Amino acid sequence: MSSSAPQTSQVHLVDHPLVQHKLTLMRQKDASTNSFRRLLNELSMLMAYEVTRDMPMQDVQIETPLETMNAKVIDGKKLVLVSILRAGTGILDGMLTVVPGARVGHIGLYRDPKTLQAVEYYFKMPKEMQERDVVVVDPMLATGNSAVAAVDRIKALKPKSIKFVCLLTCPEGIATMHKAHPDVPIYTAAIDRQLNSHGYILPGLGDAGDRIFGTQ
Ligand code: URA
Repeated sequence: MSSSAPQTSQVHLVDHPLVQHKLTLMRQKDASTNSFRRLLNELSMLMAYEVTRDMPMQDVQIETPLETMNAKVIDGKKLVLVSILRAGTGILDGMLTVVPGARVGHIGLYRDPKTLQAVEYYFKMPKEMQERDVVVVDPMLATGNSAVAAVDRIKALKPKSIKFVCLLTCPEGIATMHKAHPDVPIYTAAIDRQLNSHGYILPGLGDAGDRIFGTQ
């Protein structure tokens, strides 16, 4: 396999009909801010379901109305959801609905419009990252520059594991991410055709931040 080809073994395409249906509604240019945000919230809950599938469980002793039993729980406090600002907030909200015990980190990155490189303006993570499993969220894995910059910074804190969740990506974004971080699995609802010269995904859904916050 050439180094620029996506290594699909690390890409988890979430092709559940509910995910695909909601994504199609979100892509449509006349979807309102309100419905875009609601659909993103719902879709993020479904993505959380996939990305937490292999989370470690622990046994706790509980009392049912009939007897004592050992039952399993996820240690939500060991999970850190890291949102890449600002569009990551849209996924974060939905995921927190399903994993309310998760800690949250934020990375502020903007894309220099000329170079398309990521420039950091904010970084705040929970303490004791060495004990935690990290899920980085950003709706669009496009050039891959922001994702790589975010994972570079998080890896320096030596967490137990890192996964990346987006709604949409493209071959270019996957290749960039895999080249820098081949050990980080990507969870996505779709792999679109390509990037355009402005770093937007085609056919895509437009600017995710503008569509979530109604800033266009
Ligand atoms: N960011 C977006 O919001 N949309 C794209 O298509 C690419 C990057």
